[in-house]
Amino acid sequence: MSQTWYELLMTDHETTEKVFEAVERALAAPGGPSPTLLQDAMEYFKGYVDGCHNKKEENHLFPLVEQRGIPRGGGPLGVMLMEHEQSRDTLPRLLEVANRYLAGDREALDALRIAFGEYSSLLKNHFWKENDILYPMARRVMTAADAEAVVKGIEATEEAVGPYTRQKYYALAERILTAGGVEDLSFGVERDVLAAILNTLPVELSFVDKDDRVRYFSHENGDKIFPRTRGAIGMAVQNCHPEKSLHLVNRILEDFRAGRRKVAEFWIEMGARKVHIRYFPVRSPKGEYLGTLEVVQDIGPIQALQGQRRLLAEEN
Ligand SMILES: [Fe+2]
Repeated sequence: MSQTWYELLMTDHETTEKVFEAVERALAAPGGPSPTLLQDAMEYFKGYVDGCHNKKEENHLFPLVEQRGIPRGGGPLGVMLMEHEQSRDTLPRLLEVANRYLAGDREALDALRIAFGEYSSLLKNHFWKENDILYPMARRVMTAADAEAVVKGIEATEEAVGPYTRQKYYALAERILTAGGVEDLSFGVERDVLAAILNTLPVELSFVDKDDRVRYFSHENGDKIFPRTRGAIGMAVQNCHPEKSLHLVNRILEDFRAGRRKVAEFWIEMGARKVHIRYFPVRSPKGEYLGTLEVVQDIGPIQALQGQRRLLAEEN
């Protein structure tokens, strides 16, 4: 399925924020950033953020939003445009200091840190406002045809820069992230906190690895819908299922391994409980099969919900 304008622009923001993190890490290193990483990052900011992403919004999203009744002056649209201008003023300073550093002037490192800090904090703040305020507002006022038109505009803007613009710059971003050692956000959380998070999820998890061995389950200490104990760890998943359904378990696992299936879903009644059981293939960012995750949840209380209960209802 093709992506919506909203997904396309949000992915630009997400990718750019990861690039910011890579540069931040590289600038914090005592020896300063590697010339390749710095050069790549400057090319990404100049060629993609300024040269392509902002133009998608300025030439296609913002004018449509304005046509649908959001005024340019005084409101979020005016603020977004002003911030694009500010980033356009800040970027040349950053590029200039980066070029000095790349030319061998190591004294420029402090100035580089300051210039990058200004540019990235301006844009982080700006992306947050777009994600949280402007895009939701745009989605409310735009018609389906408007949304289509913005996607077409985004594609035209990318083509005007050159062939495969997005793919090329995303590949460049990938190189910057690898060089900068940017990892999944969970790497920034201590293991005991991560374990506590998993045990706090309102679903029970079990994981079997790529060799079909049980490697993990959550909520070890506490009530579980399907009781299991530590002895299960290391067992082949085939030994945890009754003989008569084994061929079905194996078929699901084979489909996951081969990438033929994204979920297997069942729901059963257990006393008063309506238990929803789902299996998902777990893949690395590169797409390799790591194992299968079982997610179990009593959805009875969720099915019983009616109407709505908003945050403000907390006051009563
Ligand atoms: Fe944006």
